[in-house]
Amino acid sequence: MVKLFIFFYTIFTVKMINSILYKLFRNHRRGWDPIGEEQLKTYSSNVHLQNIDSAQLDNILKYFVNPKNKKVLDLGAGTGRHTKFFSEIGCQVDWLDVSVNMLGLAKEYVGDEKKNITFHTKHIEEVDELTGHYDLIFIRLCWYYCFNDYSFANKVMSKLDNGGILYLLTNNSKYKYQEVKIHQKIQIFLNQYFNIKIGHPHPPEGRVRKLFTKKGMKILYQKLDNDTEELILKF
Ligand SMILES: C[S@@+](CC[C@H](N)C(=O)[O-])C[C@H]1O[C@@H](n2cnc3c(N)ncnc32)[C@H](O)[C@@H]1O
Repeated sequence: MVKLFIFFYTIFTVKMINSILYKLFRNHRRGWDPIGEEQLKTYSSNVHLQNIDSAQLDNILKYFVNPKNKKVLDLGAGTGRHTKFFSEIGCQVDWLDVSVNMLGLAKEYVGDEKKNITFHTKHIEEVDELTGHYDLIFIRLCWYYCFNDYSFANKVMSKLDNGGILYLLTNNSKYKYQEVKIHQKIQIFLNQYFNIKIGHPHPPEGRVRKLFTKKGMKILYQKLDNDTEELILKF
């Protein structure tokens, strides 16, 4: 009985439900796209594209100095508005997003033929398939799409170059908690207490910070609101 429990627990935590679902049903290579037409309309509006937080980016540049020719990975990059920013200050930028619809929009917005941008249509969990290491990994509002907070943090760290910077902005599970439906509350609970991740619950408060600092990363900057955490880290 105990062995059976351990077997199933391992399947659900290590093998991870979301990874199985992705392989079976939500695979962009088989036409699945998280961004539908309605969302695409919102994302392609000038209001969204130009709504870039320049204070956030200026702050990153305090730690990410001499950016020219440095390698940047924009994970869950969406419309590419941050990819565009980093390419314009001379970085070599890898845009990565699972959405083929977003790929079209980003190519249109940032320019398909720019030499210093490479587009990768991949799941964020496939980050380890990219070659090389990065001077800056930029993860803004897409952490919760990972299959497992723990293993994803390890993957991200493995792609950082020596001295590389990690920028992370994520909501935590307190975000709009009163409004989330009962099944989402269960997902949050399972992720927080059993490391079983079904769907896309936001990480529990403080988890991502601990995952990186536990492995030796130092916090260069942090802004912690009740439901949002912004971090700049370095080994
Ligand atoms: C809220 S948007 C953030 C976009 C961008 N980081 C920004 O701040 O403008 C979330 C993005 O994550 C992408 N996304 C959703 N699931 C994903 C996944 N499994 N892997 C990679 N990207 C994903 C969506 O296509 C969307 O572009």
